[in-house]
Amino acid sequence: MRDSQPKTIYLKDYQVPEFLIDHTDLHFTLADDMTTVRSRLSMRRNPESKTQDASLVLHGQDMQLQAVTLDGTLLSASAYKVDEESLTVASVPDSFVLECETLIKPQDNTSLEGLYRSASMYCTQCEAEGFRKITYYLDRPDVMSLFTTTIVADKAAYPVLLSNGNNVDSGENSDGSHWVKWEDPFKKPAYLFALVAGDLEFIEDSFTTCSGNDVTLRIFVEAKDLDKCDHAMQSLKRSMKWDEETFGREYDLNIFNIVAVDDFNMGAMENKSLNIFNTSCVLAKPETTTDAAFQRVEAIVAHEYFHNWSGNRVTCRDWFQLSLKEGFTVYRDAEFSSDMGSRTVKRVEDVNFLRTVQFAEDAGPMAHPIRPESFMEISNFYTVTVYEKGAEIVRMIAHLLGKDLFRKGSDLYFERHDGQAVTCEDFVKAMEDASGKDLSQFRRWYSQAGTPQLAVSGRYDEVTSTYSLTVKQSCKTVQETPKAFHIPLAMALLGEAGALRLQLQGAEPNPDSADNTELVLDVTESEQQFVFENIPERPVPSLLRGFSAPVQLHFDYSRDELMFLMSHDSDGFCRWDACQQLGVLALKDMIAAYQAGQDMQLEPRLLSAYQHLLSDESLDKSMVALMLSLPSEAYMAGIMPKADVQAIHIARMTAKVEIADQLQALFLQAYKANTLSQPYQANEQQIAARSLKNTALHYLMLSETEEALALCLAQYQQAQNMTDSMAALSALVNSSFEQQKQQALADFYQRWQSEALVVNQWLSVQAGCYLAGTLDKVKALMAHPAFDIKNPNKVRSVVGAFTANAVNFHHQDGSGYEFLADQIITLNALNPQIAARLLGPLTKWQQYKDESAALMRKALQRIMAQEQLSKDVYEVVSKSLN
Ligand code: PHE
Ligand code: ZN
Repeated sequence: MRDSQPKTIYLKDYQVPEFLIDHTDLHFTLADDMTTVRSRLSMRRNPESKTQDASLVLHGQDMQLQAVTLDGTLLSASAYKVDEESLTVASVPDSFVLECETLIKPQDNTSLEGLYRSASMYCTQCEAEGFRKITYYLDRPDVMSLFTTTIVADKAAYPVLLSNGNNVDSGENSDGSHWVKWEDPFKKPAYLFALVAGDLEFIEDSFTTCSGNDVTLRIFVEAKDLDKCDHAMQSLKRSMKWDEETFGREYDLNIFNIVAVDDFNMGAMENKSLNIFNTSCVLAKPETTTDAAFQRVEAIVAHEYFHNWSGNRVTCRDWFQLSLKEGFTVYRDAEFSSDMGSRTVKRVEDVNFLRTVQFAEDAGPMAHPIRPESFMEISNFYTVTVYEKGAEIVRMIAHLLGKDLFRKGSDLYFERHDGQAVTCEDFVKAMEDASGKDLSQFRRWYSQAGTPQLAVSGRYDEVTSTYSLTVKQSCKTVQETPKAFHIPLAMALLGEAGALRLQLQGAEPNPDSADNTELVLDVTESEQQFVFENIPERPVPSLLRGFSAPVQLHFDYSRDELMFLMSHDSDGFCRWDACQQLGVLALKDMIAAYQAGQDMQLEPRLLSAYQHLLSDESLDKSMVALMLSLPSEAYMAGIMPKADVQAIHIARMTAKVEIADQLQALFLQAYKANTLSQPYQANEQQIAARSLKNTALHYLMLSETEEALALCLAQYQQAQNMTDSMAALSALVNSSFEQQKQQALADFYQRWQSEALVVNQWLSVQAGCYLAGTLDKVKALMAHPAFDIKNPNKVRSVVGAFTANAVNFHHQDGSGYEFLADQIITLNALNPQIAARLLGPLTKWQQYKDESAALMRKALQRIMAQEQLSKDVYEVVSKSLN
């Protein structure tokens, strides 16, 4: 056990800072054994602070303080006090200059927070509280300061020295070192500070903003990666243009830099004018990068760029407000991706992710509202709830206000709060003020955790030609039963010939009711009834169109109604969801049969639906591929109480093999029809064709015919791009063609061993293999030279991929859980953030059948018993054992 429990920090305890820092002047001397940091802070008392303490407390950890100077006078040791987490200066005047000299060792920093080394370079990661590992500071986002940064380093080893803002001066010293001085003209909190030093090369381009400013754009990488920067650069230019057109946001400096680093805890970071990216989120070229990764690069480049306004110009008052910048920015990047590609496909992918991963978080022990009320370690709250559910809340506001008023609201928000550190409440208020809409009940989405359940039932009355929908909402969380949410429920009523005109009883007749076939119902009470008049036939309701709210919908559709929606609904999301829900019913039948020891029969309607999807050439290929994918094992586990992972896996595999065998000819036809001859492009049409072709390959390989094997091997050998290559490799790895599999794996490694990101895909396809014996292979992979426990991408590729591999991770002997516990214990000492993140799957023990749950708890208890638990791991383990 950890000897002291970390302190819990509460939103309700927020107080304005006692001091402000007007100017922050930093000086770094980077040397192999030790880095010296000198800071010069121009500080004053905050006139808004009510406390009048004489002393000054600065955050700081993991460094060695050499000297402190107050207004030019060196302080004696009795004038200040240093402990593990802070520096206290006993007495300071109202306005003063504080100088500190500290020593740090970036080369030993494996937490990848603060200043650290990645390969041959130095880089920083300061969000959320990493700056305090660089120097003593008021490391909180509501302390905003003007920064200048001077970096001194050996010129040969570190020719490139970067920080935020503009390069204002530079020079060389006689000892072979050189220096560069950077000045950022915008006030910013310390979490947006960045520094990079290394032997880097760059590609350069430029963008002219809407008011005619020329911006130099550079992407810095190691020389070997220069050929993988184009896609990110094009994505950046598209993002800059889109933000001007869609949100009226113009870039505000003449320089914008991106740097790629190999060791990074997250995807990327929006430091002012110096975005730092995980290599996996910026590098791309057809030979090494899959379609999905191309799309991820575009989305993340956009996301970080958009933060320049939603995050940097207007930032968060405190970390409880994290969703203010993240929810809004995820919403913005999702809109951007929708405009660049297929809106429906993007929506389906996002909803699928939210329903699987975020709903599980909401149902687990770490459930929290998008604006949490307390935390021990803020790093644990960079969650799908804060990010993806946060984006859904912004999406609902946009939907409730409509396009124009939402834009008015966002303009007002940026104008009112430019240069400030604000709250989620400020965001909602701006939306309200600009639109005149009342969002008081809507605000509950910010403070209440849990996934609302919407139980809807319908009744048609032939005599009165009315259709009534009864809507009941409920929501259970571990902590409480929340008050009713304001849920926008988009809906339509479908008749034989299409959507029916909607006239709601008691509502004003809509002036353009002639084509009023979709309505957004305001669900605000625990139970409500909506009656539609002049409905000439018994309709099938199309509900939660476009997934208009992050809720779990329950409507007792018959299987024939789902078939009808799948082919008739004009809403693409609902068409996909009808197919998913039919898949859910089909799988539930088979799971029950398996558990009862009976024969598993596949729902014939599902087969005929798939047959139709494969035969209709007019359908969107990406959508067909998505609809041909059965609900995932994780999704099934999330909707079944006390989930039985083995039963889910066996039922789903049996269904897939049956589909594969029955529709072999159609899959073969789809495979051939979608094999492209043109050179690779990561565009919508090609991505759609590849995704359908590779879905077909996946099914064909499930039948394990010689013909399928030949096709798969030919694809593997002839592939000109990583999407096709990986699809073939993955099909082989999960097949029983042992010899061909081993040969392909060896060949692949041989060919790509010098490309770290490709090797990571090779690791993860093996760790994700659902066949028996994978855990032993995973252990062997961890001893392979390609593996490195200090590199988060590699850990995610092996350990992360294994925990997502449900049948193997949840093996009934508990070996998967024990393995994960071992890795967490190792990582706890090296990189607490990654350790805590990897814990996720173990914490959800309550969702699984009793035998599994008991073994999962046992593994958690073993972690809990460790002595040196980091705050990160302690918080997650202790909360999940409660
Ligand atoms: N703020 C980053 C983003 O979402 C994520 C991040 C958080 C990166 C913390 C590093 C550390 O864009
Ligand atoms: Zn972000």
